[in-house]
Amino acid sequence: MKVILFILIILGLALANNIYNDKRLISLGDREQEWMDEWQINKLIKEKRRFRDITDLTLPQINSRQSVSTNIPAKPTYQNIITPLLKKASAEMPKTILKELTSFPNRYFNDENGLKSSEYLFEIVKGIGGNVTKFTHKFPQSSIIARIEGESLAEETVIISAHQDSINQMDHQGIAPGADDDGSGTVAILETFRVLIQSNIKLKRSVEFHWYAGEEGGLLGSADIAQSYALRKKPTVVADLHLDMVGFPASPPAVGIVTDYTDNATSELLRKIVGAYTDLPTADFTCGYACSDHASWHEFGIRSAIPFESQHLDYNGNIHTPADAYETVDFDHLLKYVNIALGFAIEVAGIE
Ligand SMILES: *[C@@H]1O[C@H](CO)[C@@H](O)[C@H](O)[C@H]1NC(C)=O
Ligand SMILES: *[C@@H]1O[C@H](CO)[C@@H](O)[C@H](O)[C@H]1NC(C)=O
Ligand SMILES: [Zn+2]
Repeated sequence: MKVILFILIILGLALANNIYNDKRLISLGDREQEWMDEWQINKLIKEKRRFRDITDLTLPQINSRQSVSTNIPAKPTYQNIITPLLKKASAEMPKTILKELTSFPNRYFNDENGLKSSEYLFEIVKGIGGNVTKFTHKFPQSSIIARIEGESLAEETVIISAHQDSINQMDHQGIAPGADDDGSGTVAILETFRVLIQSNIKLKRSVEFHWYAGEEGGLLGSADIAQSYALRKKPTVVADLHLDMVGFPASPPAVGIVTDYTDNATSELLRKIVGAYTDLPTADFTCGYACSDHASWHEFGIRSAIPFESQHLDYNGNIHTPADAYETVDFDHLLKYVNIALGFAIEVAGIE
């Protein structure tokens, strides 16, 4: 009897905490908002509609353009330090960790699997070193933040991000390895973090690595974090570079540069960084409303840019299904994005 009561209490608590107990405010475009229940939101996901869940955002958006006033460099200048450093990047850890991440049935943010996968990832990031914290949300999965403190401009932060959750668009409890979307970005920035921290380079600005929860639920994790940073006086966010899908190249390969809901100056620097630190060409394309977490920063007037795996948005037809598997990931291609992220982090942070 006691056991049953206990189970009922736990079940009750779980239900009480479910973000989908009440309708959510869903934004489908710059001027299109609607209160929706879980069934309606799932329908959007099945139809591959892109949306932001803005229920928990209280701050007026695009209110400050706060860091567009913070300088970013116009071009790369640290080739002599960054080029040799790129040789330290390896596919070894990305392969091992992606294998583990894709062996969770799924990494759905609003369920036990997403909670467990975020706990696993937290231990991995902590094992690399630095200052690693969990950023909790109103759903089970936590985001993860790893911070490398800068020296003379420590209050200014450069962010390198990816999203850790995955989704099966037909059934949240179904299989969703999420290898390319976005296990690839998750392990690419993990390797970037490892190489940067082990380099012991003294940076001017601070650099943070963010692994967002709940991207597939409408950019939930990044929205919570971007709002919390926008509310702070300090540290200022200089720019976010977001990696979402970096392991599935088209032929011929190119780095896609997203030109909508991103910052032009940051995208221009990104093109030059791709030129300086990879052998790939760039190709501009538009990604649409709420395409990925870079949009959460953009909405708060904070610079963001996104280097995509190819020049075609829907080239990888496996995503959000069981077919988005480990075997489909091209690690040589993925490593080019480690180069890009390392180049971006160091060029924007600056070296003492
Ligand atoms: C660790 O990073 C968090 C931000 O992610 C910051 O609030 C905290 O002060 C840092 N702690 C140390 C010891 O640097
Ligand atoms: C940014 O670039 C796009 C073209 O890529 C252009 O349409 C837009 O006006 C530019 N925005 C700003 C603020 O310069
Ligand atoms: Zn994604």
